[in-house]
Amino acid sequence: MDGNGRWAQARGLARVEGHKAGAEAVRTVVTECRKLGIPHLTLYAFSSENWNRPKAEVSALFSLLLEFLGKEIPRMEREDIRLVVLGDVDGLPLPQRTALRHGMSRTAHCRSMTLNLALNYGGRAEIVRAARRMAEAGLAPGDYSEERFADYLYTAGQPDPDLLVRTSGEQRLSNYLLFQCAYSEFYFTPVAWPDFGVEALHEALRAFTGRSRRFGKTQEQIDAC
Ligand code: IPE
Ligand code: MG
Repeated sequence: MDGNGRWAQARGLARVEGHKAGAEAVRTVVTECRKLGIPHLTLYAFSSENWNRPKAEVSALFSLLLEFLGKEIPRMEREDIRLVVLGDVDGLPLPQRTALRHGMSRTAHCRSMTLNLALNYGGRAEIVRAARRMAEAGLAPGDYSEERFADYLYTAGQPDPDLLVRTSGEQRLSNYLLFQCAYSEFYFTPVAWPDFGVEALHEALRAFTGRSRRFGKTQEQIDAC
């Protein structure tokens, strides 16, 4: 979710106004994905590098998160949406940590959709953490495999992303789900996140359905299946 700041600045507004509009876009996109039956949605809300932003912006982002959770967790429970946090929850401020833990336990039984919020998340740190956890679990070197490794990531038990969308014109991964995105389709749009609504989502999905995914095979092999 990129471009909140630029969206606001283009309108002569403070960056925080862009983040508020961005939170509205989150509601819209979650609702539409739930309606479409998309079983897993991950939103990159705060990277471990985002701590480098001005203090006031970081605290505005965390206030918005708290407000968002207060409103959305009861709704997620009603709509059978499970909340999962990808990232270092312990490194978040206490009120947000508490609200997230509460949200995760309240929705742990929900099955219609999983909403992953990547918060205080970095892909390389996740990989190092997984390696450390495997070693701590006492796994012998021969037991290491790609599948096993995936069990020690924040996304354990979930499928790899089919589609990765980045808004606002930037075309890079920014330390996002590095292990999991090995075969994801990438979609970049100039649309700023606050303007990413139902229409833009459908356009991204249409683009995805037009892609031919070969997973390293030749087109002939795919056609023969
Ligand atoms: C994305 O918008 C929101 C977060 C990273 C939390 P940005 O704040 O990155 O917006 P730009 O890139 O400055 O426009
Ligand atoms: Mg940005």
